[in-house]
Amino acid sequence: MVSKATVHVMALTALIVSSTGAWAAGSANTEPKAPEKFTTFCVPCHGPAGKGDGPAAAALNPKPRNFTDGELMNAKTDAQLIKAIKEGGAAVGLSSFMPTWAGQLSDEEIKEIVTYIRSLAIPKYQPKR
Ligand code: HEC
Repeated sequence: MVSKATVHVMALTALIVSSTGAWAAGSANTEPKAPEKFTTFCVPCHGPAGKGDGPAAAALNPKPRNFTDGELMNAKTDAQLIKAIKEGGAAVGLSSFMPTWAGQLSDEEIKEIVTYIRSLAIPKYQPKR
């Protein structure tokens, strides 16, 4: 027969294990996760960490934008970034190797991607009021 003390120890162990699990999941969530469409469409050029160093970037000049370059990226408005994504690089005076995404991405998906790109900037992006 299982003693009362054993049941206690088991319950306590379960509690510790489950709370540690929750803590681990919570801390992982503080790192912004790339939207799925970003991984599919943008990583080949812009790189897995958005540094402009994806496998297809080697052949490009100018290089795809490094989204961690806050000095440069933070000076751009959301509208500029959205236009570049929707209409392509040429529409905003950048390299025409940046494709047009209006057909593949909804406005909602583009917004999510812009939020993600903003989260990569160093120094941190401060939205203008
Ligand atoms: C074929 C390679 C390629 C792919 C794929 C690509 N980009 Fe680009 N991207 C570029 C290049 C090249 C530039 C322009 C860099 C320049 O002219 O200095 C650029 C520029 C940009 C800019 C403009 C940044 C600025 O300074 O205003 C944004 C925003 C951007 N890309 C987002 C995306 C997103 C989001 C995706 C995926 C949906 C994507 N790109 C996919 C190559 C690519």
